[in-house]
Amino acid sequence: MENDPTLEVCCKGVTKVYGEGPTRVDALRGIDLTLKKGELLMIVGPSGSGKTTLISIIAGILEQEAGECTVLGRDLKEMSNGERTQFRGKEIGFVFQTFNLIPMLTITENVAVPLLLNGEELEPALKKAEELLIKYGLEDKLLRLPTELSGGQLQRVAIARSCIHGPSLIVCDEPTSSLDHETGQNVMKLFRQEVLEKNRALIIVTHDQRIFPFADRIIKLDDGQVVA
Ligand SMILES: Nc1ncnc2c1ncn2[C@@H]1O[C@H](COP(=O)(O)OP(=O)(O)OP(=O)(O)O)[C@@H](O)[C@H]1O
Ligand SMILES: [Mg+2]
Repeated sequence: MENDPTLEVCCKGVTKVYGEGPTRVDALRGIDLTLKKGELLMIVGPSGSGKTTLISIIAGILEQEAGECTVLGRDLKEMSNGERTQFRGKEIGFVFQTFNLIPMLTITENVAVPLLLNGEELEPALKKAEELLIKYGLEDKLLRLPTELSGGQLQRVAIARSCIHGPSLIVCDEPTSSLDHETGQNVMKLFRQEVLEKNRALIIVTHDQRIFPFADRIIKLDDGQVVA
C-alpha cells in the first residue's frame, strides 16, 4: 500500500504517548489514515483529541511511539535528521496553530524563507513572496513586521509561507480560525486550487464549520482514535 504512487500519506497503527507514570497521556491510540494526491482532508475533534499530535507526526516534526507513517512512500522515522530536514523543507508545508513567524523579519521575508532554505536567490524569492501575499490580500502590509499585523493577517502570512515552495503536502492547524467569513472562503479557494490543480495534498485541522464544504473527506478524532 505504501508503494501506491497515488498515495501522499499512509499511517498505520500510529500511537503517541506523552510523559510516563501518573502524567502519562495516550495522545494517539492507533491511527490508520491514507491521503491521496489531490485530496483535501479535514480533521475535526474536541480539544485534546490528538489532532495537532497527529499532523505533527505526519509532517515529521514529532516521532510516533509505534506504527508507521509514510509521506510519498518514505518513512520519515527512518531518515537521518539531515535527510528528514531536507525532505520536509522540499515536500511539506506546515501552518502552525501559533503561526511561528520570525519576529525580526518582514512578512515578505518570512514568506520567502522556505525558498531561501531550498537554495533560491534572495531577489526572486522576495518577488515570489510579494506576489503570493498580494493574492492573499496583504498588498499594503508587505514590509510590516509580524507584530504589526492582526491575527487574521498573520494567519494568511503563515498560509502563504506554507505553500510558496510548492510542497506536495501541506498540513495546517486551524488555518481559518481568526478569519472573517469572506476571507476564510477566499483562502480556502486559493488552497483548493493549489491542491487540485497541482495534484498536491492538504490536511486541515479545523473547528470552522464554514469551511467544511471545501473538504473531500472529513475524519473525526476523539481521545486519540478515529471515530468517524
Ligand atoms: N508536549 C506535550 N506533553 C505532554 N502532553 C501533551 C503534549 N502535547 C500534547 N499533549 C497532550 O496530548 C493530548 C493531545 O493533544 P493535542 O495537542 O494533539 O490535541 P488537539 O486535538 O490538537 O487539541 P486542540 O484542539 O486544543 O488544539 C492532550 O491531552 C494534550 O494535553
Ligand atoms: Mg491542536
